[in-house]
Amino acid sequence: MLRSFFIYLSKLRWLRDLILKLGFTRKASRRFVAGESAEEVIEVIRQLNGQNILATCDHLGEDVSTEADARDARDHYLQILDLIQKSGVKSHVSLKLTQFGLDVSGELCRELVSSVIEKAAQLGTFVRIDMEDSPHTERTLAVYRDMRKEYSNCGIVIQASLYRTADDIKGLVDDGIANVRLCKGAYQESSTIAFPHKADVDANMVKLMQYLITAPGAYLAMATHDEKMIDATKRWVAQYNLSKDSFEFQMLYGIRRDLQQQLAAEGYRMRVYVPYGTEWYPYYMRRLAERPANLWFVLSNFFKP
Ligand code: FDA
Repeated sequence: MLRSFFIYLSKLRWLRDLILKLGFTRKASRRFVAGESAEEVIEVIRQLNGQNILATCDHLGEDVSTEADARDARDHYLQILDLIQKSGVKSHVSLKLTQFGLDVSGELCRELVSSVIEKAAQLGTFVRIDMEDSPHTERTLAVYRDMRKEYSNCGIVIQASLYRTADDIKGLVDDGIANVRLCKGAYQESSTIAFPHKADVDANMVKLMQYLITAPGAYLAMATHDEKMIDATKRWVAQYNLSKDSFEFQMLYGIRRDLQQQLAAEGYRMRVYVPYGTEWYPYYMRRLAERPANLWFVLSNFFKP
């Protein structure tokens, strides 16, 4: 119930505009958001790198409705790639296609995303395409497939919650383009297309992890804070004698820092998704949806001087 409510709120533009104006919410956003500027995110990534943790940074923004906004997003990503290079921090970038104009024009989106991937290729780095809600699934996969015709330095995100996912992953593996961040899925979806029960999502995630981690030519980024999923991955890796750096774990900035540090110390490749920017509202609401108890953190900030 609460999950659906927060996902519903995440889509309300008027509420977003209101919340972004309130000073205390900005302070509370720091729980999951590294800062507003590119310089701030580089500093956070430097600290993570100091703990042997890699990063992928995301300049927050989604659902843009004009070409100008989409072009701005592209320009920002080109700048952050330069900054990553100059600062020497170890970080990829992650982006959302609706921030790059997917809902404005598929052609525009392809043009802008390919210029970011092209630049990343020149700098020897990598671009991960996030997965958004189901009206975008097919189009996101199509853009990814097109990008892979030209570039190998990009990957996609796939959600274990969707029924279609096993087929999607098999298709990517068969085509030799399965560089996949596997996550549970952060959006509210109908039971006609997604598993309604968490236990089924979890079971699917384990099954897909087992398949992907040994599939020929595939690379798995296991994106979860769920200790059951992490333990299942570790067991599978040990059982098949796979090396600890043949895949990676990924977690979100600000969530289970203890576990992030523990996995890095155990020698696993650990990457943290570090969002930054002023457009944090929908991202933040999805984090509340995943764990409504996070709301207490927001409210406690309200009463702090
Ligand atoms: P689960 O929800 O079962 O949580 C397990 C435990 O993790 C909880 O008991 C709690 O301890 C902790 N936890 C989880 N969420 C928390 C939160 N918000 N606050 C505090 N603690 C929390 N989704 C998507 O649809 N598209 C995408 O592109 C991405 N990208 C992405 C990148 C990375 C690096 C990660 C880690 C996740 C995503 N996601 C995503 C989000 C993902 O789909 C999922 O919603 C969250 O990771 C929560 O699911 P868990 O696997 O952590 O398990």
